[in-house]
Amino acid sequence: MIIARTIAQLQEAKNTLNGSIGFVPTMGALHQGHLSLIQQARKENDAVIVSVFVNPTQFLEGEDLDAYPRKEEADAKICELAGVDILFMPTIDQMYESDELCIGAPAVRGYILEGEKRPGHFDGMLQVVMKLLNLSSATRAYFGKKDAQQLALITQMVRNYFMDVQIVPCEIVRDERGLALSSRNVYMSEEEKERALALSRSLKRATKMVVSGELDVEAIKIQMLKVLEETDRVEYVAIVDRSFRPLKKVEIGNTIILVAAWVGKPRLIDNIWI
Ligand code: PAJ
Repeated sequence: MIIARTIAQLQEAKNTLNGSIGFVPTMGALHQGHLSLIQQARKENDAVIVSVFVNPTQFLEGEDLDAYPRKEEADAKICELAGVDILFMPTIDQMYESDELCIGAPAVRGYILEGEKRPGHFDGMLQVVMKLLNLSSATRAYFGKKDAQQLALITQMVRNYFMDVQIVPCEIVRDERGLALSSRNVYMSEEEKERALALSRSLKRATKMVVSGELDVEAIKIQMLKVLEETDRVEYVAIVDRSFRPLKKVEIGNTIILVAAWVGKPRLIDNIWI
């Protein structure tokens, strides 16, 4: 595995690759969720590139940019064992100059839910993903459904800018109790992790209601909020279609149910595709 820390090193390393390239962008502190993306990329492509870059432009003032877990050595080991060809770990000055051209999240879809709670987050996320997709020359790029709105906006960016890359959505990886894996889970105590299970439990409750024929969005949300009382604070419960338009009735095969809530230090998100 080649570790590239500069753009020049990345370009040189890419010259050693042949065939299709699968790309997995991450912010590091890799866990089983990231690994599942890497494994899928490994299966479906001749070569795999992973990036680890804690992108400053997608963190808002007061968010955990400085505290965000950094585990370079462990990340490199995991990538090596997973058969990654190139690990790209750039510094901030390799990725940005001053007075940058910016790309903006769409005015409606980019400013609801995560976009409303974290204004500016998606602008920074799209900016870095555009750069990384271009740098990687990826045939396919892999993103988790865990960040469903992020995935939808990246898919839209690729469509709107006619970018020549296939975006591959990947399933959410959970621990044995149902907690969706996240780099930020390390901030929680055992007691908090226990209460954090309310997120996945609320989604299970919603699924059960849909299966038993209840399609009314408001009725489902009320039951979900009851389950979510165990969290410290609910930020939103939303039921939207796959293009992130709000729904009144669940449309089976075209619905995403999303939740965001605080438990202890971290703000957690989870969702289910129905
Ligand atoms: P990060 O949070 O490190 O996540 C990297 C990728 O792993 C994302 O596509 C995310 O959806 C996926 N992922 C995280 N937890 C997962 C889980 N439990 N199951 C399945 N997939 C999971 O998302 C980012 O970084 C950044 O915004 C990035 C796209 C790298 C741009 O900076």
